[in-house]
Amino acid sequence: MGEKSKSKGCFGWFLVIVILALVVGAIVYTIKKKTSHSSKPAPVPGPPGAVEKKYAEALQTAMQFFDVQKSGKLVNNKISWRGDSALKDGSEARLDLSKGMYDAGDHMKFGFPMAFTATVLSWTILEYGDQMEVIDQLKPAQDSLKWITDYLINAHPSANVLYVQVGDPDKDHKCWERPESMTEERPVTQVNTSSPGSDVAAETAAAMASASLVFKKSDSTYSSTLLRHAKELFTFADKYRGSYSDSIPRVQNYYNSTGYGDELLWAASWLYHATGDKSYLQYVTGQNGKDFANWGSPTWFSWDNKLAGAQVLLSRLSFFHAKDYSDNSGLQMYRKTAEAVMCGLLPKSPTATTDRTDGGLIWISQWNSLQHPVASAFLAALYSDYMLTSQTAELTCSGRSFKPSDLRDFARDQADYVLGDNPMKMSFLVGYGKKFPEYVHHRGASIPVDATTGCTGGFQWLESTKPNPNVAVGGLVGGPFLNETYIDSRNNSMQAEPSTYNSAVIVGLLSSLVTTSSAVQSFTT
Ligand SMILES: *[C@@H]1O[C@H](CO)[C@@H](O)[C@H](O)[C@H]1NC(C)=O
Ligand SMILES: *[C@@H]1O[C@H](CO)[C@@H](O)[C@H](O)[C@H]1NC(C)=O
Ligand SMILES: *[C@@H]1O[C@H](CO)[C@@H](O)[C@H](O)[C@H]1NC(C)=O
Ligand SMILES: *[C@@H]1O[C@H](CO)[C@@H](O)[C@H](O)[C@H]1NC(C)=O
Repeated sequence: MGEKSKSKGCFGWFLVIVILALVVGAIVYTIKKKTSHSSKPAPVPGPPGAVEKKYAEALQTAMQFFDVQKSGKLVNNKISWRGDSALKDGSEARLDLSKGMYDAGDHMKFGFPMAFTATVLSWTILEYGDQMEVIDQLKPAQDSLKWITDYLINAHPSANVLYVQVGDPDKDHKCWERPESMTEERPVTQVNTSSPGSDVAAETAAAMASASLVFKKSDSTYSSTLLRHAKELFTFADKYRGSYSDSIPRVQNYYNSTGYGDELLWAASWLYHATGDKSYLQYVTGQNGKDFANWGSPTWFSWDNKLAGAQVLLSRLSFFHAKDYSDNSGLQMYRKTAEAVMCGLLPKSPTATTDRTDGGLIWISQWNSLQHPVASAFLAALYSDYMLTSQTAELTCSGRSFKPSDLRDFARDQADYVLGDNPMKMSFLVGYGKKFPEYVHHRGASIPVDATTGCTGGFQWLESTKPNPNVAVGGLVGGPFLNETYIDSRNNSMQAEPSTYNSAVIVGLLSSLVTTSSAVQSFTT
């Protein structure tokens, strides 16, 4: 009896321990599930994976172009041929608009693409900040982002006024000089209630809402300031509807906006992520979604059209918080449309776009041809990582199924093309690889630091047959023609001009590829 009861007792204790362990396990599991809203969205095996040297080097190079483009009084400047410039920008309106970034090879500050640059850079930091950190690029990315958002805060002096441009492009383009030696007038341009600009105001709201998430932990005061501006700007954009291109027709020659509905949805999507306020979700999934979202039709993500970005960003909610949103049909439409975008990109999909070069590069436009493949690859990398992080096994395109790795392969192929794996055997990222553009259409890079030019004296450097004396390091130039040729010529602005928004998307793409981990971070409130 003794022995039997003893063994029975032992078994009893064993049972108690097993039950206790199960109960504790269940509690831990429930807590983890609950907190997974605000921490890691799904089980990710460990911290970021091994660094991929090629993409790490490319990312470190690409990031430097933001430093090349900085206006104002520089802090810790690492570009030897750059210095302070445009210190009086905004003074005509008694504002300090000295910061921000020059748009491209010229010295204009165009608010519409500059805000887009900030939004994409914020998005990149939010998804891949841990991977950027592994190669010391997180802090520089935050600094560059803040260089733009400091400017945007000053450009929004009252609720319904936003300055959207500094400089006169016609005057600016009559000069060829270094930014450090500019003396021309730099007029400012605003949108307001009588001349509205829902597109530019909403994009600026998106930039500030997304940046408010970036700075939430490190600088909560700054983050709240950004969020306040974002909400005000969104209200202004929504209430006083109109395109800035209609209000101020002269902007059409540079960054013509072909509609503001996409920016309103994009801004509301970011505001929902930044605030958790359901009215913003209602905004995108309700009537405005029906009016503007173009559900079912894939589009190209660019400084002008944000729909594909909004679709991918909103899909994030259904990937990581499926239960909370399962009955939201509007949100399902965004996810379905994001899937259609991905199916268009995958080269073996039945619905694959035929807009490609023979070498496999997505190719949509002659001007700045690389903007579309790189932006598309960034979205594909994100979507692949959403699938992997949420353990979603496949994506179906007209009956054919694809894995997350297929999307990542596509993203990687586009990146590899840009970095030199192409018929021209050259890199389009300035400063990266053995062969890269040497005659970049960029005033500062083309003129020796010690030259005295005045407004027009610098044209001799535009016309010079020698390579640029300064490297516009990190610039992503416009890129190849459809027939995969590239003319490395300084006045070839169609192909040889880099821009800050090109930098934003290449930095996004490379940040996703920089380690092997294929996971995104969590950032919703
Ligand atoms: C509103 O903006 C337009 C377009 O930039 C400008 O012409 C007009 O002067 C502005 N209105 C006010 C009151 O400043
Ligand atoms: C700007 O876009 C609008 C709307 O798409 C179009 O009607 C207009 O012709 C464009 N302007 C220029 C200069 O291309
Ligand atoms: C390639 O395309 C460009 C632009 O369409 C054209 O000017 C050039 O002649 C073409 N080159 C060749 C080799 O076909
Ligand atoms: C540069 O290109 C522009 C636009 O095509 C043209 O008007 C200008 O004359 C060219 N300048 C030089 C120096 O070749």
